[in-house]
Amino acid sequence: MTKSLSLNNGRTIPALGLGTWKSEPGKAGTAVAAALEMGYQHIDCAAIYMNEPEVGAAFTRTFSKGAVKREDVFITSKLWNNKHHPDAVEKACRQTLADLQLEYLDLYLMHWGIAFKPDKEKQPLDEYGMIMTEPVSIQETWRAMEQLVKLGLVKSIGVANFTTTMLLDLLTYAKVKPVTNQVEIHPYNAQPELVNFCQAKEVAVTAYSPLGSHGDEKNRPISDSAILSIAKVHGKSPAQVLIRWSLQRGIVVIPKSTNQKRIAENAAVFDFELSEAEMAEINKLNKDHRFVDPIASWGLGYFR
Ligand code: A2P
Repeated sequence: MTKSLSLNNGRTIPALGLGTWKSEPGKAGTAVAAALEMGYQHIDCAAIYMNEPEVGAAFTRTFSKGAVKREDVFITSKLWNNKHHPDAVEKACRQTLADLQLEYLDLYLMHWGIAFKPDKEKQPLDEYGMIMTEPVSIQETWRAMEQLVKLGLVKSIGVANFTTTMLLDLLTYAKVKPVTNQVEIHPYNAQPELVNFCQAKEVAVTAYSPLGSHGDEKNRPISDSAILSIAKVHGKSPAQVLIRWSLQRGIVVIPKSTNQKRIAENAAVFDFELSEAEMAEINKLNKDHRFVDPIASWGLGYFR
């Protein structure tokens, strides 16, 4: 099993990265530095995670020590939904570069295929509890993102939270193809059709929330009895089984942790293999259950 995947533009992406969503202030930077020092070569960031300055300081600290080189690390960030206007995209990217203390990003993603109204609130709601949008099409935003590649600010561009239909449309006009679609994937939300579609179109799939940890304690893949027993067979942890299941589907995986022991644990996934029968057993756990559904926060049936 290879530790990196090929992208449709000839570049590669390390199959395992560290997620930073919900990495708490005061912990995010330490976690990133620790991950880099233990060999992680892929860090996933986003402007909306509100921790990019702290992560950026960790990059500078780590790279200045010399053991880890910037060019050996794949760094992703994401355009927030209130910066979709073509006039806002480059500025937003430059702000992220400044925050992360970088000269370029390896990958810049459109975080969601929806343009929010620019407002001091990052997620402004109207009197119906519905997210306030601005009339900017995905195509207009994508054109502006393509410019970032031309300018050399980013090596690759991609999307996140795109459905099959949204991607189909994007692929009709993209001059620069999205290299990946980053979506919620874990055994309770396996998304086999979307994964199959993306892979058929050479758009790599990246799994966020791969441990499915946002649900209540009793409804988490990490506590599922099938996962626990497979983990036991291999002498591995449930988290390692979940990560391995995604890797074996050819999916890039970015588990988040700010705990150094768990950061190390999550990377120790290249010394065992799930059998076909085990993969099939895990596939059967799918119940199309999303832990991240904009209906709750934006009043919007984005996936419905
Ligand atoms: P922590 O940061 O304290 O380690 P996901 O990437 O699916 O959203 O999962 C992230 C959540 O899972 C975080 O709450 C994280 O907590 C926890 N987590 C990360 N790695 C492990 C692990 N190996 N075992 C158990 N929980 C983990």
